[in-house]
Amino acid sequence: MKVLVIGSGAREHALVQKFLAEPQVSQVVAAPGNAGMSAQVSTWDVDVSDPEAIADLAERGSFDLVVVGPELPLVNGAADAIRARGIACFGPSAAAAQLEGSKAFAKEIMAAAGVPTATSITCGSTDEVVRALDDFGPPYVVKDDGLAGGKGVVVTEDRAEAQTHAEACLAKGSDVVIEEFLDGPEVSLFVITDGNVAVPFLAAQDHKRVGDGDTGLNTGGMGSYVPLTWADRDLVAQIMEQVARPTIAEMAHRGMPFAGVLYCGLALTSQGIRVVEFNARFGDPEIQAVLRLLESPLAPLLRAAATGELAEQPDLVWSQDAAVCVVIAAEGYPGDVVSGDEVHGLNDAESIPGVAVVHAGTARSGDQIVTSGGRVLSITARGKDLAAACERAYRAVAAVKIRGSHNRSDIAAAARDGAITIPQ
Ligand code: AMP
Ligand code: GLY
Repeated sequence: MKVLVIGSGAREHALVQKFLAEPQVSQVVAAPGNAGMSAQVSTWDVDVSDPEAIADLAERGSFDLVVVGPELPLVNGAADAIRARGIACFGPSAAAAQLEGSKAFAKEIMAAAGVPTATSITCGSTDEVVRALDDFGPPYVVKDDGLAGGKGVVVTEDRAEAQTHAEACLAKGSDVVIEEFLDGPEVSLFVITDGNVAVPFLAAQDHKRVGDGDTGLNTGGMGSYVPLTWADRDLVAQIMEQVARPTIAEMAHRGMPFAGVLYCGLALTSQGIRVVEFNARFGDPEIQAVLRLLESPLAPLLRAAATGELAEQPDLVWSQDAAVCVVIAAEGYPGDVVSGDEVHGLNDAESIPGVAVVHAGTARSGDQIVTSGGRVLSITARGKDLAAACERAYRAVAAVKIRGSHNRSDIAAAARDGAITIPQ
């Protein structure tokens, strides 16, 4: 099987590494890729925002499967363009990707499907914002309705900050969604679906805030781990029943079947499971950790999802180990990022047992790898339990030297220490 991976982040590099280890896969190409991917596979240039350009590449390389990593090409219709050329594509249509592309659309689907989520009001003017903030009270949750790369959400006790964010969204032409605050730990579950049959991965947890102890600004994600040692054994079954299956059925019922990965972002609240958001692609950095434990081949699974044949796939096999992913970010992230700093110590990090390094914001400058984006590297480690995986991951993080870089030092720590509880 010849596989084309679209994207340039750590998520896509992790997918590439998994595919390279699978006997079913004869060739992997990444477009546009990054400096880490180009050391392992061919990388082809492409404008990921341009669906026809992506479809042209897919056709030129006679690929058997295209895996679209990020949300932007999906929302723009890359999967539709690729399928129109008769090529199997893992990723939903533009219509179905609205589950991620519009928070208001996602709320409408959830209401129709009876899926539990935070109550919300979509606002198109400052007056409506002021009224909604009054109605909900603190803590305020204010969301840009459109795509915002994980940075469109402000959760704050500070009313002025909430209103300022809402007005900034309105000023750039987006609606604003204001919603009820959800207490309780967050969970990410990736559900592979062909639009009908649905297969869950292991549930994982992301760390969205930039600082230790969940402080500071929201980011695209600073680290992740799996398994959720603190969760109910039947958590995944509950999420499938209460969230994933009804949502997939509602999308099919509307004639816009969702085929690809339905990323269920959830809060486990005192009132039960609540959807925080849906995404139409794998979560970054959660998938970097989750893939370390997937022993079954991924490419045939994703191809079956793309071609409506998921029912014929064997059950997935998972390692009993734990995996932890720590993101190393460039100076300034998640604000204005400094680029061009040299990355040292990669070989030392990768020589630690159980450790794998995938690249995100990296570029090549002569023989040197340099930073070129906010999240620079994802360091993943496998171990027999979370404590072992954490220890290896942080040993590898310490081996990497990048001027001005930062990372959280508490990824998976609360789970490892038994300090996560679901509010009663
Ligand atoms: P989203 O882009 O919708 O995933 O939001 C980003 C992050 O903001 C989430 O991962 C949560 O940490 C936080 N967040 C979003 N919605 C809520 C909510 N209703 N209550 C509490 N925190 C939230
Ligand atoms: N880790 C959060 C996301 O991928 O949206």
